[in-house]
Amino acid sequence: MMPVRCLRRLSVLLLTLLLLVPGTLPAQEAQPSPSGSNPTAMSANEQQLLQELGKLQGRVTLPYQHAGVLQQPQGRSYQMFHEAWLPWIGAILILATIVALAAFYVYRGRIRLREGELTGRKILRFNAFERLTHWMTATSFIVLAISGLNYIFGKRLLMPLLGADTFATWSQWAKYAHNFLAWPFMLGIILMFVLWVRDNIPDKYDIPWFKAGGGLVGNREPIAGRFNAGQKLVFWSVVLGGILMSASGLMLLFPLALLDVNGMQIAQYVHAGVGIALIALILGHIYIGSIGMEGAYGAMGTGEIDLSWAMRHHRAWVEEQRAKGRIAVPPADRRSGRAAPAE
Ligand code: HEM
Repeated sequence: MMPVRCLRRLSVLLLTLLLLVPGTLPAQEAQPSPSGSNPTAMSANEQQLLQELGKLQGRVTLPYQHAGVLQQPQGRSYQMFHEAWLPWIGAILILATIVALAAFYVYRGRIRLREGELTGRKILRFNAFERLTHWMTATSFIVLAISGLNYIFGKRLLMPLLGADTFATWSQWAKYAHNFLAWPFMLGIILMFVLWVRDNIPDKYDIPWFKAGGGLVGNREPIAGRFNAGQKLVFWSVVLGGILMSASGLMLLFPLALLDVNGMQIAQYVHAGVGIALIALILGHIYIGSIGMEGAYGAMGTGEIDLSWAMRHHRAWVEEQRAKGRIAVPPADRRSGRAAPAE
């Protein structure tokens, strides 16, 4: 009888945690050895451990020693963040951004050029490679954002609508999309940085641009180089945010490769927090690049914009291009920032 009992005990030892999980195992009295010590985890009093250390920890025979921690303070804070704070903060930030943009649209309407201001003369703003880079990053970001939001809100909002089975299938595909489109997004961030960093270095036009409210309020557009101060903010947020998203995302994509469980929880805080902030920012960017401003979309669509649009929004850039002989621009009326019509 003895060897059978020993074998059974050994297999339990090898396959399970030597933990006292509250409510799953009957409480047992510790059995001291002849020496007076009790070397098994059975000797631990889980209530005492929880009270004194805030954690439940035992020994495991698995190669992953961290699996021996069943409950700990960081885990409880993480759960609180993930299940309570994150959905609320995320929903409030994203909805507040949408409401603010809608209110701005009602207040300001579409930012338009003046009647008859278009010259019909087109100049190149972004070449094909720049546009390809932008749209690769943009489409992958949009899919990453939708599939990322599914992690936070899907269970609460979509599952009741779709039913558990359809939601499970959708979530599985959303997860594949999230894992695979992270790569073109990361590549896009690197390329954007290389292509546009020079034009996003702060210059003498930035402070006056902010002081003038970026031309969003009132009718005068402050002078700006290739990118105005608002666009520079978008650029640096996308680059720095993109780096944080990439680093934290890689930690989550390869679990426990470099970080332990606590490190992965921190990576998750960063990934979710920066992700939500970037989504709110990009909503503003999409607004101003499409319905918010007449003539802006063409820059990323065909790559070309009307000369008077460029003169109005990026006059210093046009003048710099003209000085370099890259575009032939008729003399501008400096007071209005208006270009003479094409002959
Ligand atoms: C449907 C979505 C989007 C639209 C319609 C859009 C539109 C535009 C347009 C029109 C420009 C050129 C602005 C100019 O000529 O000055 C631009 C630039 C840019 N876009 Fe987007 N974009 C979108 C999504 C994104 C996303 C998802 C990202 C990054 C994650 C992004 C990052 C940038 C950056 C860094 C620039 C250069 C700086 C700036 O103009 O703010 N865009 N976009």
